[in-house]
Amino acid sequence: MKLKEIKFIKKRLPINEIKKKSKEFYNLIKTRRSIRKFDNLKIEDEIIKNAVLSAGSAPNGANLQPWHFVIIKDIDIKKKIRKAAEKEERNFYNNKAPKEWLDALKPLGTDSNKEFLEIAPIIIAIFEKKYSVKKNKKIKNYYVKESVGIATGILISCLHFSGLCMLTHTPSPMHFLNEILKRPKNEKPFLLLVIGHSHKNCKIPKFATEKKKINEISTWI
Ligand SMILES: Cc1cc2nc3c(=O)[nH]c(=O)nc-3n(C[C@H](O)[C@H](O)[C@H](O)COP(=O)(O)O)c2cc1C
Repeated sequence: MKLKEIKFIKKRLPINEIKKKSKEFYNLIKTRRSIRKFDNLKIEDEIIKNAVLSAGSAPNGANLQPWHFVIIKDIDIKKKIRKAAEKEERNFYNNKAPKEWLDALKPLGTDSNKEFLEIAPIIIAIFEKKYSVKKNKKIKNYYVKESVGIATGILISCLHFSGLCMLTHTPSPMHFLNEILKRPKNEKPFLLLVIGHSHKNCKIPKFATEKKKINEISTWI
C-alpha cells in the first residue's frame, strides 16, 4: 500500500512564549483536585462534547482509537449505577480490600457511600476496547490501557481547563456497567468520570494536595 502523507504545519513560537505557556498550563493544572461533593447544576452538552473530542484526539496504539465514552445524564441510569457501585464498594470496604489498601485510603476519608453518582450532572463511563468489531470481524487493538489512560488524561485536562470539577471513580469490579449501559463484551469499563461543579460545602483531603517534588518524580541526565 502506498503511504499517503500530508504536510504538517505548526507555527513555531518564540522561546519566551513557550516558557510562559508552560508555566500557565502548570499553574492551571495544579489547581485540579478530585472532589466528592457536587452541585447538581446542569452542564451544557457542547462542553462535554468538546472534552470528548479532545480525548478522542489522543495518541494511541496504531491509531485504532480503542475507546468508547458513554455520557450519562439520565437520573434513572445514575441511580442504577449508584446502587450497583455501592454494592461493590460495601463488599470492597467490608470484605475484599486488604488492610494495606484500606490504610492507603484512610487519609482520603472515602467510604462506600457514593451519593455523588446521583447528584453530579454528568458521568462519563469510559470503556477500553480490547478489540474492535467491523463487519463481524474482530480487529485486535494495541496498547489499549496506555491509549485509554492518555485519552482520559486529556479529557480530565480539558474539563478542568473549561472550569469544571471531577472525580475519577473506580468501583471494583465494574462489569455491572456493561449491563446497565448495554455495552458489548469487547468493551471493558476503564473508569467513571464524575463531572460537575463543586458543592458550596465541598471539602477535600489535605493529603491529596501534597504532591511529590520535581526531584522525586524525575531524573535529568
Ligand atoms: C485510576 C484512579 C482510580 C480512582 N478511584 C477512586 C475512587 O474509586 N474513589 C475515589 O474517591 N477516588 C478515586 N480516585 C481519586 C484519587 O483518590 C485521587 O486522584 C488522589 O487521591 C489524588 O488526589 P487529587 O486527584 O485531588 O490530586 C482515583 C484516581 C485514579 C487515578
